Order: sequence, then C-alpha cells, then structure tokens
Amino acid sequence: MSESLERLQKVIAKSGITSRRKAEQLILDGRVKVNDKVITELGTKVSAKDKITVDEIPLEKELFVYYMLYKPTGVISSVKDDKDRKVVTDFLEGVEERVFPIGRLDYDTSGIILLTNDGDFAHLLMHPKHEIKKVYNAKVKGIPTKNELNKLKKGVMSNQERLKAVHTKIVSVDKKANTALLEITLHEGKNRHVKRMMEQLGFPVLKLKREKYGLLTLKGLKKGTYRQLTPYEVKQMKSLASQNVKQ
Ligand code: URA
Repeated sequence: MSESLERLQKVIAKSGITSRRKAEQLILDGRVKVNDKVITELGTKVSAKDKITVDEIPLEKELFVYYMLYKPTGVISSVKDDKDRKVVTDFLEGVEERVFPIGRLDYDTSGIILLTNDGDFAHLLMHPKHEIKKVYNAKVKGIPTKNELNKLKKGVMSNQERLKAVHTKIVSVDKKANTALLEITLHEGKNRHVKRMMEQLGFPVLKLKREKYGLLTLKGLKKGTYRQLTPYEVKQMKSLASQNVKQ
C-alpha cells in the first residue's frame, strides 16, 4: 500500500505551530529540515515517517479535535476580534488545541457551531457540493404563505447571488404580533443567507438560531456550553459529506 504524502507546508501548518502561509516562509528561510536535510522547495512532499524539524525542534503532531458549541448571540464566530468582543473560542475553557470555527454564524445569531483544528474536515463540511444540511429556526416579521416560502426552492436574488432554501416549514404564527416562526433548511451558507433571503421575500428576520448541522443537534447543550464530538459522530459527518448523502 502506498503511503500518503502531503506537502511540507501543510504538515507544518497542521501541527498547529503556524499558518500555512507562514510555514511556507519558514521553508523559504531555510529553517525547516526533513530527515536532517534543509529543504527550501515549497512543493516537497513528506509522509508520516519523515522526521521534520523547524529551527531544530521536532514537529509535534497535534491530534485532531472536534467540538460543538451552543453559540449565544452577541458573540463573534472567530478566534480573535479587533474590537475585543467575545469570540466563540472564549467559550472553550480547557481546550488547549488551536481550534477555529467551521464557517460562521452572525453576531446576533445563536445555535450550533463546530470547531476543529482539522482543516480538511472543515473544508469537507463547508463545501456546498457536499450538501450538509443546516436547519435554522427563524422568527420573522409578517406571516408568509406556503406559496411564498416555496419561492425559496428556486431561490431569490440578492446582490447578484441566488439564495436558496431546500426546505421550509411554518412552525407557528402569532397573528396578534404579526410574526411567524419558521424552520428553514439550507445546503449552503452564504453570507447572511437566511436574513438576506427572507428580506427579499418581504419577511425580515427578527431572531435566528441554528438548530441542526448535518446529523448534529443542540440536544443536551445549554447556551454558551460545548462538548466534544464522539469519534462516531466525526466519522458519520465525514461519510455524510463525502458521499454527498441527502439527509
Ligand atoms: N443565515 C444568516 O442570515 N445568518 C446566520 O448567522 C446564518 C445563516
């Protein structure tokens, strides 16, 4: 069986010591050795058997970790904020690995967000062609009809982008307040997808929460708490994405 080969800069970045771009610079600067030989070629491929050092320090292979956070509103989906607002990683007390969020939820959106240090996993889940379903609960101003919501299957245009929903459901209506609670399922996650789509339809979103991501739900989590995904859940999510299974 052939060994799996990966680009040197990718392996360095995966170890968690720096970004891929900075890893490239380390290589170009001659600070990286593979099996005791300085390597300055960016295209060099390495396998798990190769001994890699940066400034003579052996690379520790960081294990991949996967978490699910129930993001409250008023939190940025990032690892750092230049305005010093709360970010999702502030909630991962006790997590040592350098994880980042998979995709994003708006500052004022709550719900399920996944975090990992596994770039390939993140890429797999985020690619729209893998059609991972994300289910949102949206409280909107006004009461749409089923017909109006059905327009979302074909999509509505916003800023030259077609925004679609794969499924919509009216959960409840409040005639007095003139609001409705909807369940909206997306395959993609364009910027402010649900809000822009509903705005175009004439029913602005008042409150938004992501309830489900693929097979994962918020069950058992309180706002602001997190848990590790089980190895089985990780495996299931990978297989869901790579088979492009319609859930
Ligand atoms: N759609 C939005 O409009 N906002 C989110 O945070 C997620 C989906």
